[in-house]
Amino acid sequence: MKLAVIPGDGIGVEVTEAALTVLDAVVPGVDKTSYDLGARLYNRTGELLPDSVLAELRGQDAILLGAIGDPSVPSGVLERGLLLRLRFELDHYVNLRPTKLFPGVPTPLAGNPAIDFVVYREGTEGPYAGNGGVLRKNTKQEIATEVSVNTAFGVERVVRAAFDGAMKRKRKHLTLVHKNNVLVHAGDLWFRTVNEVAAEYPEVTLAYNHVDAATIYLVTDPGRYDVIVTDNLFGDILTDLAGAVAGGIGLAASGNVNPSRTTPSMFEPVHGSAPDIAGQQKADPTAAVLSVAMMLDHLGLTEEAARIERAVGEDLLSRSGPSPTMAIGERLAKAASS
Ligand code: IPM
Ligand code: MN
Repeated sequence: MKLAVIPGDGIGVEVTEAALTVLDAVVPGVDKTSYDLGARLYNRTGELLPDSVLAELRGQDAILLGAIGDPSVPSGVLERGLLLRLRFELDHYVNLRPTKLFPGVPTPLAGNPAIDFVVYREGTEGPYAGNGGVLRKNTKQEIATEVSVNTAFGVERVVRAAFDGAMKRKRKHLTLVHKNNVLVHAGDLWFRTVNEVAAEYPEVTLAYNHVDAATIYLVTDPGRYDVIVTDNLFGDILTDLAGAVAGGIGLAASGNVNPSRTTPSMFEPVHGSAPDIAGQQKADPTAAVLSVAMMLDHLGLTEEAARIERAVGEDLLSRSGPSPTMAIGERLAKAASS
């Protein structure tokens, strides 16, 4: 297996190191190449994602990413020029974000509800497409637009992926989240697409929620969700909330997936680079470790992925307080290898 590693910025570096310790224990001998992309490279050379690096990344089986973003670089530069460029160039049209409340993990929700759902966040379109601009900048008449791009092709492929995902789950229940009472053009395309594709999946039950209502249900009744399919920006916001209700963003893993496997998929914790605690071994590497498990699952190493998930579950149940990042990594490596 050929793996590209992009530790990136801030706590990305230390959580990636801990996650690789777990990977090495479970799947020895992976051919890893580390790429120093992010704020260090940008501040040194002005480069974000050199073409030669992108070409090399295309030849890998998968990519493991830590986190991107640093206060030394203006907001948006690394996000657009590196992270989003990777998602777009490698056509990661499914941003897969599972949310599970592990036993023993405290949730801010009353009554400790069961939470186990997965969000299929569209990954290459929507307001993230960079379509928009500004008129009369720095005047009182300034007009800024960010036009959400939704193509029949782009919506259908992520919707199909979500139905396929629903078929692999026990409940087989799919919820479309959008805002079709206001965003009538894109909302209608999403709504029609889900209903058309649904004809091919008679076992999957359907629901629709407006995104604002979905934020209420995620807090008051998260058990209603099994699979959620939604656009890029709604998915971004919902999955931070999902992370918060399921014990914190430090546990939330994700995969930027190209289900057709024509390019390597990229796995990363949902959390950011947390510069305020970077380099202090304070970050919880669990999200990065679970991202490794998602990666192994994607590559067909399902037994190895399950061993990591099991080790994480047992570890979360027996935690009594915080541990240094690397100590958690070593603990999980030991537990997952036996
Ligand atoms: C995420 C992040 C990114 C996003 C940012 C850093 C561009 O918030 O992975 O959820 O908005 O997709
Ligand atoms: Mn986000």
